[in-house]
Amino acid sequence: MKAFQPFVMERMMSKFEKDVTFNLSESGVHPLLLSELLEMVPGKLDELLKTELNYPHANGIPELRRNIARLYPEAESSQVLVTVGAIEANYITLQTLLSPGNEIVVMLPNYMQIWGIAKNHGFHLKTFRLLEEKGWAPDLETLESVVTPQTKLIAVCNPDNPTGRTLTETEMDGIITCTRSVGAWILADEVYRGADRVSDVENPSFYGRYDKVIAVGSMSKAYGLPGLRIGWAIGPEDIIDELWARHEYLTISTTMLSNQLAALALSPEIRPLLLKRTRGFIRRGYPILEQWMQAHQGRFWMRPPDAAAIAFVGYNFDINSSEFTDRLRKEKSVLIVPGDHFGMDHFVRISFGLPEDYLIPALERIHELIIEINK
Ligand SMILES: Cc1ncc(COP(=O)(O)O)c(C=O)c1O
Repeated sequence: MKAFQPFVMERMMSKFEKDVTFNLSESGVHPLLLSELLEMVPGKLDELLKTELNYPHANGIPELRRNIARLYPEAESSQVLVTVGAIEANYITLQTLLSPGNEIVVMLPNYMQIWGIAKNHGFHLKTFRLLEEKGWAPDLETLESVVTPQTKLIAVCNPDNPTGRTLTETEMDGIITCTRSVGAWILADEVYRGADRVSDVENPSFYGRYDKVIAVGSMSKAYGLPGLRIGWAIGPEDIIDELWARHEYLTISTTMLSNQLAALALSPEIRPLLLKRTRGFIRRGYPILEQWMQAHQGRFWMRPPDAAAIAFVGYNFDINSSEFTDRLRKEKSVLIVPGDHFGMDHFVRISFGLPEDYLIPALERIHELIIEINK
């Protein structure tokens, strides 16, 4: 078998997330019931029951692509490809734009999909970091120093997983200036766009600020609908057509019902309600986590996330993060993500966009283990 870099965090989640009592490893909010979504539009259920379970349009049904295009400045639905989650959109973007040996620069810490793909496909991987000591601001000096005329693509995640940091427009412009100077592409993973904790205005997309941008979005995080498995890529029409050609090999299409439901969720009437729901979970859950941290008097620290339902929390007691999270899973049946999965030991990623009666007992169990470790 060929050497293979597994997607370590997704391996852990797919093996254990359904078996633990409390899953705080997910980065989205508590998902909607199908009935909750359908109740928002009277008569929709009857309409859906008449859906022919055919293949949908391979690139996504027109209504869905129209609703997605509306989320970006001056975009057309022909610039949108609907994919099986953002995960497929990221994958086929790299497959389309890069060949083995090509130079890619990845922002870290980050959801490690692009990092892992770069390893598995023999890209020449370079990195720049969000700096904890600067409130997770991007290290643009390092970015400038690692980018070369051979750089084909710069991958960013905004708002970021795991830090929840949203780039300022000045920082975005800094990244674009650097990318433009070598004519590279930007792959902007924006799955948390709209899942704001502190702002009611969603952060701007990289799309529309530079011509060589592929922006990626998803129903999984900001809209609370991960089970639809719907994501998308938006970019220049000719490149989106190339992505579509790869998508035909990989999945042909997403499902007909998911297309219909995602189109409904992103309609101008329903979308604001879903964003409000997501922000509600994030804003109610965060103070619970914060209070819990404060009760541990100096054992934890964190820069409050701007967006997303996750906190990247540093700790100062003496145990490796993977060992800690393994013990937590085995002894307390709680799943969280070790900092090791992001190459940063002595951090953990904890999900908080969950109902109170789920979050509080889960945090209580983490507390029990901490007491036992520090006895
Ligand atoms: C930054 C980022 N991109 C992509 C994904 C995958 O999302 P999807 O469910 O849309 O495939 C995730 C999931 O956690 C993520 O955090």
